[in-house]
Amino acid sequence: MEQVQLEKFRAWFDDYVAGFYGDDEFVNANIKLKEEHSRRTCDEMIYLAEELGLSDEQKQIAEVIALLHDIGRFEQFVRYGTYNDPRSVNHCLLGVEVLRQTKVLDGLACTCGCAGTGERNERQLIEKAIEYHGLRELPADLEGECLLFSRLIRDADKIDVYYVVTDYYRQYRDNPDGFKLEVELPNEPGYSAQVVEEILGGRLIDYRVLRTWNDMKLCQLGWVYDVNFAPTLERIRQRGFLEKILEFLPETTDIEKVKEKIFAYVDSRIEQERNKK
Ligand SMILES: [Fe+2]
Repeated sequence: MEQVQLEKFRAWFDDYVAGFYGDDEFVNANIKLKEEHSRRTCDEMIYLAEELGLSDEQKQIAEVIALLHDIGRFEQFVRYGTYNDPRSVNHCLLGVEVLRQTKVLDGLACTCGCAGTGERNERQLIEKAIEYHGLRELPADLEGECLLFSRLIRDADKIDVYYVVTDYYRQYRDNPDGFKLEVELPNEPGYSAQVVEEILGGRLIDYRVLRTWNDMKLCQLGWVYDVNFAPTLERIRQRGFLEKILEFLPETTDIEKVKEKIFAYVDSRIEQERNKK
């Protein structure tokens, strides 16, 4: 990919997203949330690409994936008024559909000289990473750069979603009546024993078992099990996202155990990685 193509994608994104703003304040606030998330995910992706020593070409592909990974969100919100996939549409697949309909990736050539059929088709790498970024788990048969970029976007996305949700909880606590964003689960005081059990067992949580906002917060703590790269965990640790989520959970023995488990896991993975260097 040429630098000029990356700039073309940035300009296309600006134009495309600008078209979703209108008179409805609720819609605008939600569109803005995803627009800003996409831009910050690019920054996180650049950080990861740098830390992991990717080539310049790989860095450019990674940035395009980050910029476009949630491109389906805008259409999803204006069509259905929600970012909840089970209640509306799979936003990852919708994103790939948007990219095809708008033909924005059509200019990307295959860089290995195989006329678009070979192993390094940039367009395919971008589409696949976007398609897979919201899956609970990546398909087991992914390999090579397809696996690399699919892992990268899931990590970059998580770092920024941690930023978004911690800010979101703070805004809601400070001014619940002025809160302009969608709240997907009931904000009740309790949490589900099953969710705590899964985290203490080191397992990823199925979104279908979540009942309350606190369950969602616990699930977000458990995302660390799904992180692919140690620099991602370092970033999460440095920015204090886990501590911030814990601030919004009740102070019980269960939550204290979850806290110990999660920190022990993150710190031991960071340590293992440091020892490898
Ligand atoms: Fe997404």
